[in-house]
Amino acid sequence: MANQGSFEVALKRSNEIRADIPGNPGKYRMLSGDRPTGRLHLGHYFGSIMNRVAYQNAGVDCMVLIADYQVITDRDTTDNIQDNVYNMVMDYLAAGIDPQKTPIFTHSAVPAENQLMLPFLSLVSEAELLRNPTVKAEQEASGHELTGLLLTYPVHQACDILFCKANIVPVGKDQLPHIEQTRLIARRFNNRYGNVFPEPEAILSDSIEIPGLDGRKMSKSYGNSIMLGATAEETAKRIKKSPTDCERNITFDKENRPGVSALLTTAALCTGRSEVEIAEEIGMGGSGALKKYVTESVNDFLAPHRERRAQYERDLDYVKDVLREGNRRANEIAQQTLAEVQEAMGMIYYK
Ligand code: TRP
Repeated sequence: MANQGSFEVALKRSNEIRADIPGNPGKYRMLSGDRPTGRLHLGHYFGSIMNRVAYQNAGVDCMVLIADYQVITDRDTTDNIQDNVYNMVMDYLAAGIDPQKTPIFTHSAVPAENQLMLPFLSLVSEAELLRNPTVKAEQEASGHELTGLLLTYPVHQACDILFCKANIVPVGKDQLPHIEQTRLIARRFNNRYGNVFPEPEAILSDSIEIPGLDGRKMSKSYGNSIMLGATAEETAKRIKKSPTDCERNITFDKENRPGVSALLTTAALCTGRSEVEIAEEIGMGGSGALKKYVTESVNDFLAPHRERRAQYERDLDYVKDVLREGNRRANEIAQQTLAEVQEAMGMIYYK
């Protein structure tokens, strides 16, 4: 995160835009993205996918990026990447992303987007790259050395955002340094070569941090997640094994009872009820009754998603078609933007 002041500024702008979107959806193009390092879970659903679907359905022009090159910023293998990509498409579709409206694409398949990397790299300094706090945090968390790609991927993220001239980008707080870098790149390009790019704004969702089953943030690397595509039985097992405590009476107390409270929040999100109401209903039923209720809530909530997802699992050709078409549309847009960039830079030698 940059400093608190710039967070406040980003939050204020984000709130203004969120208020404006329902009345003026046509003003906005939204680019959102995930990296395909594993399966999507409930944290992804409530934290971002649900909002993307709502914006899409409100009439915002949306693009969904699967950031496959970002996988190798801090790891040495692309094992499972194809499987992860297909499975992400299935979850997006099952969650309500409509590929007719919203192209789903992988940035590795969009050469003209990647070509923006060269002029954009010329617009940033080594010092700027080295002081990006999110890059530093990711490097430390991965235990991997700082690769050239990890150092420069915020510039590549600017390519993701600017190739399609997105003006809004829904992200978590940790991504704000990248959005700031993207704004700088757009501004510097426009000043140097003429106006081509919008300066995109971050859209911050209401900061519900989705707890994993142990009370920490839900994350694949903590092993505390409920996967959207898991079976009802797998989900029941996961919840059964989740840590609670030995106090029988169920109460909502995040500080002192992280396990119990995470379960209550999970059920609350899936049912639309409040944590306190659920806790009072279960009361002396203890963690057995709580887990039974949470399991039912999650499995009921996910049943329609899982049913739709199963259709796509049986029809991989359709999933591939969605990607092929998304990539085709992304390429069309990227070629158009690259042509404008080359024109602005005086790099057109014949027509
Ligand atoms: N960096 C994002 C993450 O780790 C993923 C991402 C890549 C992204 N390109 C993007 C997000 C462009 C928003 C816009 O979650």
